[in-house]
Amino acid sequence: MRLILLGPPGAGKGTQAQRLIDQYAIPQLSTGDMLRAAVAAKTEVGVKAKEVMDAGHLVSDEIVNAIVAERIAQSDCANGFILDGYPRTLKQADAVEAMLRDRNLTLDHVIEMRVDDEVLITRVAGRYSCAKCGSVYHDTDRKPSVEGICDQCGSTEFKRRPDDNAETMRTRLWNYYKDTSPLVGYYHCKGLLRSIDGMQSVEEVTAAIEAIVSR
Ligand code: AP5
Repeated sequence: MRLILLGPPGAGKGTQAQRLIDQYAIPQLSTGDMLRAAVAAKTEVGVKAKEVMDAGHLVSDEIVNAIVAERIAQSDCANGFILDGYPRTLKQADAVEAMLRDRNLTLDHVIEMRVDDEVLITRVAGRYSCAKCGSVYHDTDRKPSVEGICDQCGSTEFKRRPDDNAETMRTRLWNYYKDTSPLVGYYHCKGLLRSIDGMQSVEEVTAAIEAIVSR
């Protein structure tokens, strides 16, 4: 299964991808996570990307397409993958198509997650994650079962992203509507687009995705 999760920042793409990898045993390819790993490792790509990401802008198509092309070629992607946060521009969408065509593969579904802007801002402002395993939580809506202890790995260390603040979030949303939302029409024309209500609970959104995927 080759799936794209499409939606604005805070729509729940990462949360849902984490649930789907367990269910379908395919990897999550998050360009945001890959770029943050490059920033943390201070690689050439990471050094270039840091300032752009902290400001809420998009990293260049050239850089992002190259890291995805390299990742898709790895053996754990042979049975499929979930693209989370990629593609994000029409040029990136063309690049995915070319990468798949070269391997005689096609996309199965593009799932658009729709969430109101005010809810997105609240979700992002309250988001934090486990510093060890990356499990995502929220200050009010999704706390660990035992306060201060990660449900998944038991770690007591958590972190917040530098781009999760109101000012940067406005830029990220602007960039979504300007550069990424045209992909809704792009995939609609290809007959791949399925839109779901991302305002529902995490469990209800997972069920909506599973209903599409299992069709
Ligand atoms: P990236 O890491 O991809 O961030 P994003 O797209 O802005 O998306 P988020 O991770 O913020 O949100 P999400 O939809 O995954 O929501 P989540 O599940 O965490 O990109 C970061 C930056 O990297 C970009 O700004 C750009 O600079 C660069 N970049 C990345 N990819 C790029 C590309 N392809 N091209 C160019 N640049 C690129 O959920 C959010 C919160 O809500 C959590 O607290 C969660 O617990 C909660 N939540 C989730 N679902 C629900 C629900 N149903 N109900 C209630 N709460 C929920």
